[in-house]
Amino acid sequence: MTDIEQHEMSPDDWDELNFPRANVQGFDDVVETAISRRGFVSGVLTFGSGAAVMGTSMLKGTSAIAGQTDRFAFEQLPIQTDGTVHVPKGYTWDVLVRWGDPLFSDAPVFDAQMGVPTQGSDRVFGENTDGMELFSVGNHQLLAVNSEFVNSKENLAHTQNGMPTDASDVLRLQNFQGVSVMEVREAETGWEVVIDSPFNRRIHHNTEMTFDGPAAGHDLLKTDADPSGASSFGTFNNCGAGRTPWGTYLTCEENFNGYFGATHEPILDDVTAAGYARYGVPTKVDPGRYNYHGFDARFDITQNPNEPHRAGYIVEIDPTNPDSTPIKHTALGRFKHENAAYALAPDGRLIVYMGDDERGEFMYKWLSSDKYVPGGDTSTLLSDGQLYVAKFNADMSGEWIALTPAATGMSPAEIAIFTRIAASKVGATTMDRPEWIAVNPTAVEGYCCLTNNRNRGIKPNAGGDDTAPNGPNPREANNFGQIVRWRPSDDDHASGTFEWDLYVMAGNPNTREGAYQGSSNINAGNMFNSPDGMQFDTTGIMWIQTDGNDSNEGDFAGMGNNQMLAGDPVTGEIRRFLTGPNGSEVTGLTWSADRRTMFVGIQHPDAPFPDGEGALPRSSIVVVKRVDGALVG
Ligand code: FEO
Ligand code: CA
Ligand code: CA
Ligand code: CA
Repeated sequence: MTDIEQHEMSPDDWDELNFPRANVQGFDDVVETAISRRGFVSGVLTFGSGAAVMGTSMLKGTSAIAGQTDRFAFEQLPIQTDGTVHVPKGYTWDVLVRWGDPLFSDAPVFDAQMGVPTQGSDRVFGENTDGMELFSVGNHQLLAVNSEFVNSKENLAHTQNGMPTDASDVLRLQNFQGVSVMEVREAETGWEVVIDSPFNRRIHHNTEMTFDGPAAGHDLLKTDADPSGASSFGTFNNCGAGRTPWGTYLTCEENFNGYFGATHEPILDDVTAAGYARYGVPTKVDPGRYNYHGFDARFDITQNPNEPHRAGYIVEIDPTNPDSTPIKHTALGRFKHENAAYALAPDGRLIVYMGDDERGEFMYKWLSSDKYVPGGDTSTLLSDGQLYVAKFNADMSGEWIALTPAATGMSPAEIAIFTRIAASKVGATTMDRPEWIAVNPTAVEGYCCLTNNRNRGIKPNAGGDDTAPNGPNPREANNFGQIVRWRPSDDDHASGTFEWDLYVMAGNPNTREGAYQGSSNINAGNMFNSPDGMQFDTTGIMWIQTDGNDSNEGDFAGMGNNQMLAGDPVTGEIRRFLTGPNGSEVTGLTWSADRRTMFVGIQHPDAPFPDGEGALPRSSIVVVKRVDGALVG
């Protein structure tokens, strides 16, 4: 594989290529396990009905609730394989903002072939739009949006292969990532960014932040640039997102490891070396994915071995105050955070559900010690409490295991910094890459997209944990993905136990057999692969976004481009709503204050989206409305 091809990979695939996990599970063990699981797979239950919906005889055909009137206000969109966005009849879409569009009037003008120069690269909308949330302040609507990574061939169009050639190139890439906060409004001509709004702000790889929680000030967080270990510079690989009930934005640091590298053979202490191995921090003397370390000593692990310990957290941003300092909440653990979905317990304590998106990693839950009181002090709610990891049992029960010093033999700071290692010690369930989690506002239940896992049953995770097929991850070499649902005991998200089932198993009913056909709510009309983004609207409809194989061939024939679908949690019905252009992932979804507009993220499209032939492709947020102006969620 060439450097260029490596640069075109997603961070997840790059990680797998550069940090392959050893294959230590024998083939015979895998087959035996798969066979012994078969009875369970065919017996996956849905809540309430008590009836098997996954029996092989029921895999094809209509949804489990034939005859029931659906709650969708649109006709299913057929698959698409072209270079633009499609929405159902009765809806319109338009581009709100593209990578490189100005947030301030002093921003450089975007050049269709060369993009944005380094000077002013922190004054424009960032690259690779991902998770987003909308906040209302009086009459102002503010979008806080993640910029996950870069498409460096396009972002550094003057270079041969997208690799930085000097410190200016590195700074440009650093400026294109992080978070954009911007005011948006609906004008006569449609939705637009309010250029120079006092709320507009760019947060990037050099923005100063503070740490709180058990790891703040710990020796493992101290660096040349921050001998206190209490402040941080930058937020990295901001993937999914979330919000708090008190109106702040949560941005989630995912594949942070790829920004670091070694300029000389590093000499590492055992603790650091074990952490690097578990999180995939590169130690080879090599330019790596971005070669930050070639030009910015902070990212050179030979000079600053603790810098990688300072990334991989949930970061809280107050979008209403552009002068506020973002806070890295170490209490919520350090891993490849996908998103952060909150719930409130009946007694007012705050729950935050989080996934660690890597093959065979875990699902987590934060529970605050103090209660959320609207208008009250919220300063302890993301720092004082308990972090748990999920264990799913084969009998469709589950439990949240507390990551305590007694259970792990680790200090609170070590648990916060090496959360994966702590979770492995307590026997957490290895998952098929937990992506977004969403909490249903109309029922006490949560959902997590388990996007895919080609290593399931083939290789252990990075910590050596066995990944034989298990309850919610029942298919080895899982190309398609599934969505797990859990209902906490006593209708209380603070409860330590839950029951679970699978809301959907994606699959291909045309070409595959058995469990790989998908569950009974998958059919030739609505099939998809690799569920990733997920949000509920206020009516309790679940919106599912995909980041999968869009070749439309082989296992994926009949699925077309990546897409957004609507799912009814009650009936199980799933219907395709929107398709993205070739090459793109559809990720990030939120709504205008009046719920008449959806904001949908289109990440890393191929050319010519959206500017036409000959122009650089640009990740964009699109606005989707109904032609009749009715509510869209
Ligand atoms: Fe950045 Fe797991 O998606
Ligand atoms: Ca994602
Ligand atoms: Ca993904
Ligand atoms: Ca992505």
